[in-house]
Amino acid sequence: MLIPANIAYLNGRYAPLPELQVSVMDRGFLFGDGVYELVPVYDRRPFRLVEHLRRMGKSMAAVALVDPYSLAQWEQIVGQVSASQDFADQSIYLQVTRGPAWPRSHAFPTDIHPTIFVYAEPLLPPAPALILNGVMAVTANDIRWGRCNIKACSLMANVLLKQMAVEAGADEVILLRDGGLIEGGSSNVFIVRDGLILAPPPSERMLTGITYDVVQELAQAHRLPLVLREISEAEFRTADEVWITSSSKEILAVVELDGRPIGNGVPGPIYRRMNDFYQAFKTATMRPSR
Ligand code: PDD
Repeated sequence: MLIPANIAYLNGRYAPLPELQVSVMDRGFLFGDGVYELVPVYDRRPFRLVEHLRRMGKSMAAVALVDPYSLAQWEQIVGQVSASQDFADQSIYLQVTRGPAWPRSHAFPTDIHPTIFVYAEPLLPPAPALILNGVMAVTANDIRWGRCNIKACSLMANVLLKQMAVEAGADEVILLRDGGLIEGGSSNVFIVRDGLILAPPPSERMLTGITYDVVQELAQAHRLPLVLREISEAEFRTADEVWITSSSKEILAVVELDGRPIGNGVPGPIYRRMNDFYQAFKTATMRPSR
């Protein structure tokens, strides 16, 4: 496996990725005992960095990890990693684990030295064909735990669910629990019924996406009616439009669900408006010179 020599950050040190190593006793490695964030960067400008850092702060607090840095220190690290890459559109990954400990034991160690890791990959925007033609999704029972609002590194259920989607030829898996719509395997879900945009409200069952918040702001700014409320499986399956949102997928229309068309089987009119608003907002805030 060839790991590129991109500069990354590990516990105070900036170095090429292949030179950075963590202990095999790291609790992130042994237990998935850590939290993470993924920040999109356009033309070296991080998108909603403060919001991502705040969400990571909440994830850390929820698992009793002490935030090792101030907001300014995090901004500095992200800025330096970003500036060290030779590609301008980036996906910056941040992770804090409960660090190495001996002997292996589930409960927290008394002496905690968190492992702090930040690296960048090229950010690939969704292919124009996906925006134009939409994507396929399959549904699955939500087999994840009860604290999905925490962006935890332990992603076994998400890994298995996403693999199931890939093997079914789908782009995303959409999760259902107790007869209701929850979210995607790595995205939030909106539906449209009779001109009204609907999405499940924030809860411990889903991650409150940064893109989910942006979509709500854009709906408000452009006077598109949007309501956050629980959505039944039946309402979801018979929706006129279904969208998935995330930092890397942006907003994509689901046009086929479990092999059946959503609406007319093409991205709907409200999706197209919302995506235009999103792209215009992104260009205006992130690429002002274009
Ligand atoms: N995932 N829900 C889940 C379970 C997610 O994993 C993600 C994002 C989202 C959307 O959040 P945001 O709009 O802030 O990207 C919702 C990232 C991209 C990941 O796991 O790689």
